Amino acid sequence: MTFQKRTHDCGALRLTHSGETVTLNGWAHRIRNLGGVCFVDLRDRTGLTQAIFDPAKFSDLDEIRHECCLEVTGTVAARQPETRNPKMETGDVELQVMSYQILGPAKPIPFPVSDEDQMTTVNEELRVKYRYLDLRRPSMYRRLAIRANLISQMRKYLDAKGFVEVETPIITKSTPEGARDYLVAYRLDPGKWYALPQSPQQYKQLLMVSGVEKYYQIAKCFRDESQRADRQPEFTQLDIEMSFCSQEDVLNLAEGIIRTCMNHTIEAFGLDKEPLVEFPRLTYDESMRLYGSDKPDLRFGLPLFDLTDISANSGFGVFKNAIEVGGVVKAVRYPGGAQLSRKEISVLEEFAKEFGAKGLAVTTVVEESGEVQLSGGIAKFLSTEESQAIIKRGQVEVGDLIAFVADGESTAYNVLSRLRLEIGSRLGLRDPRKLAFAWILDFPLVEWESESGRWSPAHHPFTMPKAEDLAKLEDDPGAVRADCYDLVCNGSELASGSIRIHRADIQERIFDLLKIDRATQQERFGHILDAFSYGAPPHGGIAPGIDRLIMLLTNTENIREVIAFPKTGGGYDPMMDAPSTIDPQQWAELGLRLG
Ligand code: AMO
Ligand code: AMP
Repeated sequence: MTFQKRTHDCGALRLTHSGETVTLNGWAHRIRNLGGVCFVDLRDRTGLTQAIFDPAKFSDLDEIRHECCLEVTGTVAARQPETRNPKMETGDVELQVMSYQILGPAKPIPFPVSDEDQMTTVNEELRVKYRYLDLRRPSMYRRLAIRANLISQMRKYLDAKGFVEVETPIITKSTPEGARDYLVAYRLDPGKWYALPQSPQQYKQLLMVSGVEKYYQIAKCFRDESQRADRQPEFTQLDIEMSFCSQEDVLNLAEGIIRTCMNHTIEAFGLDKEPLVEFPRLTYDESMRLYGSDKPDLRFGLPLFDLTDISANSGFGVFKNAIEVGGVVKAVRYPGGAQLSRKEISVLEEFAKEFGAKGLAVTTVVEESGEVQLSGGIAKFLSTEESQAIIKRGQVEVGDLIAFVADGESTAYNVLSRLRLEIGSRLGLRDPRKLAFAWILDFPLVEWESESGRWSPAHHPFTMPKAEDLAKLEDDPGAVRADCYDLVCNGSELASGSIRIHRADIQERIFDLLKIDRATQQERFGHILDAFSYGAPPHGGIAPGIDRLIMLLTNTENIREVIAFPKTGGGYDPMMDAPSTIDPQQWAELGLRLG
């Protein structure tokens, strides 16, 4: 098929082009056939141009359907002043069509491709099934372009600093990052399996043993884990590793990349975001104490406060009883919350219960005869001393509601951190223009898993314990902190990294602690333990999640919106219909049987 190539983009024509004969290639975005005249807005990725077809000249205009692909040649004409459209960049002109050709006819489309307002009502599964149409929408294309821009900035930044991009295998052996593996059957030796990497963690460490020193990769990672709004089974990291570095070096490098590249993309696309500046630092302990979470939203204050010491002998039995059995009492203030009705408070209580609270005790802060006091709710159970101590500890103000949770520490943190976010949202404190990045440092090395009755890595098993805590590894593992850091922003985790173990003896002690016996250590990690015995350099790294960075830049709550071809619930791809069945021949070749 021959066709005339475009002389201009659909977004390019201006008054200065008047009188020129031009050819456009694009899609029929909007069609208005008024009988005497037919308007078609022609779209490509740069914009729209209104083309005018004269039905007297063309007999088969009804073959031009929504979203068909067209070649159109015509004369650029200035529009009459009253028909100019200031909302369109090309709105001062129109194309008077002399000839056209349908390059790709279109069936009736399953949903409107262009209209943002209508899109919110289109079923997401349908959008993903017809992703190639969904991606025609300018807002979707723009997200792809923002993503490409950020990635290209990252490459530029790291290339200039002497980092080398190395591709690592996709079909390989399991790399534990805490999720289930996706497995690939091995045809030549039925019963053996490859695993898709949960991250290139081991390869990047092996590259340090190789002397690469400065590595990065835009890396695909695969994790069979339950999906959430910010989790996909297949996602992308900017994976980084460097040798002979301190934790400070990695933090500085990562901060430099994120700040420089994000600020560049914000500017290039005119995104409505405040530029990134310094990243504050908190220890894990501080972050938990102040915000009840290791990924706090720092766009606003409202820190939690602890009343366990004050309320040990509380007149309110719920507090006293919880503390007696080793629990804590913590609280958060809700500015202006004194105005809430009984019904609104019971909604808050239900919210708290959803996250495991047994209840939500409340009271309000009032001023009576010139004195700040607690009133209503549980106030009647509290002594004046206890009330005054709470007022002082919480730095509460008149008009506040105080919400208390008495429970085990982790439940109290979980509930109150979510309540704090809810309060922040209600009060409009979570400004989408702000990107409140921060470092969380000094994580514990391991966490106790009561279900399996064993220690599990808080990050991954290759994380270096802090030198000063190493001696406690066997006797008091819960007290060992790690050279491990997370980058957080606006309440989500953006990146994780650590200084690694580069000595086989320490790595074996960690595996011992994790109750991975020596035989299993050899079978699963023999390669890396062996590599560490050939002059491994001290090294460390980090991996920012690219999808989540783009979510931040584009104000998107759903990770699928920033991925060209995402999976829907359960890891399904409705467009390709994957996963799908395989034919009996393939089963046989792989030596597989069901059940
Ligand atoms: P981690 O497992 O913390 O660390 O992952 C690093 C970052 O990757 C992003 N991320 C995800 N994004 C989308 N969907 C997912 N399912 C998903 N899981 C993780 C997050 C997270 O902060 N190898 C280590 C890094 C290192 O130690 O250098 C690792 O993978 O933004
Ligand atoms: P109850 O005595 O169970 O009726 O509870 C009295 C008040 O305390 C109610 O407002 C409950 O929501 C609240 N409450 C109950 N248990 C807890 C708890 N563990 N922490 C905080 N508030 C609670």
